[in-house]
Amino acid sequence: MTTIIDGKQLSQQIRAEVAEAVKAITTAGQKQPGLAVIIVGDNKASRVYVNSKKKACEEAGIYSREITLDGETTQAGLLEEIRQLNQDPQIHGILLQLPLPSHLDESEALQTIDPHKDVDGFHPINVGYLHLGVDTFVPCTPLGVMEMLKRYNIPLEGKTALVVGRSNIVGKPMAALLTKANATVTVAHSRTRDLPALIGNADILVAGLGKPEFVKGEWVKPGSVVIDVGINSVDDASAPRGYRLVGDVEYEPAAQRAAFITPVPGGVGPMTIAMLLANTLKAKQKFA
Ligand code: GUN
Repeated sequence: MTTIIDGKQLSQQIRAEVAEAVKAITTAGQKQPGLAVIIVGDNKASRVYVNSKKKACEEAGIYSREITLDGETTQAGLLEEIRQLNQDPQIHGILLQLPLPSHLDESEALQTIDPHKDVDGFHPINVGYLHLGVDTFVPCTPLGVMEMLKRYNIPLEGKTALVVGRSNIVGKPMAALLTKANATVTVAHSRTRDLPALIGNADILVAGLGKPEFVKGEWVKPGSVVIDVGINSVDDASAPRGYRLVGDVEYEPAAQRAAFITPVPGGVGPMTIAMLLANTLKAKQKFA
C-alpha cells in the first residue's frame, strides 16, 4: 500500500501552529513578526508566488510588507532598499524574490541582507552554518521536505538517499540536511551517468531538477520514499486551462512502486510557504 504524503494538509497544520504562536506573542504584548518581500520587475510567476506569500502571512497574523521595484531599478537602489529593511524594527524577515532582472547582481544583493533576517537561508553565512550543522535559517523548500519526512515518521538514519538536482535553493541544502540526518547521500545532476541505476538503489529519492516527468516510474526502488519537488506546467488541450501541473517524476507508475510519495500539486509546494512563515516566526523569536 502506498501512502500519499499530503503536503496540503500538513502545511495547513503548520500554518495553524505558526498562527497560534504568533497569537501568543501578540497577546503577551510583544510586537507582531514582520516579513518584507522585495519583488523587482514584473515576472509573472514571481507575482503569483508573492501574492500567496502575502496572503499566508495575513492568515497567520504576520505583518507583511511588499516592496515592488520597477524592472529598471539600479543595483544601488536595490541595495539601499535592503539596507533600510535591515534597520527596520518592524521587519524580522526579508525575502528577495528571485530571479532578478539580468542587469542586477543577485549574489551581492543576497549578501546585503542581514543574516539574522535571512528567512530564505540564502546568505553565505547561513549556507555555511547549514553545512557546519549549526542551527540557522534553512531554505524553505528543503526544510519543508524534512518536515514532511519527520511528520510521517519516515526514518532516515543509514538509508541511501539520492538527490537529483544540485541547485542552491533545493539540491545542495537538501543534501546537507539529509546528511545531517545520518542518511548516506548521493547528489545526481544532468551530467550523471546511469541515473536509473542510482534511483533503483535509493531508499529516499528527492527529485528537484525541473524537468517534467523525467524520472520514470519503473526506475523507482520498490518500497522507497519518493519526494517530488518539481512543479512543471505542460500543455494539455483537454485540461480546463489548457495546461496541467506535473512533477519531475512520472507519478502513476512511481506510486505503484513507492511506499510513500508526494503528489504534484499538493505535495512539497504548499510546504514551502508554511516554512517561510515558520522561519519568520523564528527570526522574531531568536533575533528581535
Ligand atoms: N524564486 C523561486 N523560489 C524562490 C524561493 O524559495 N525564494 C526566493 N526568494 N525566490 C524564489
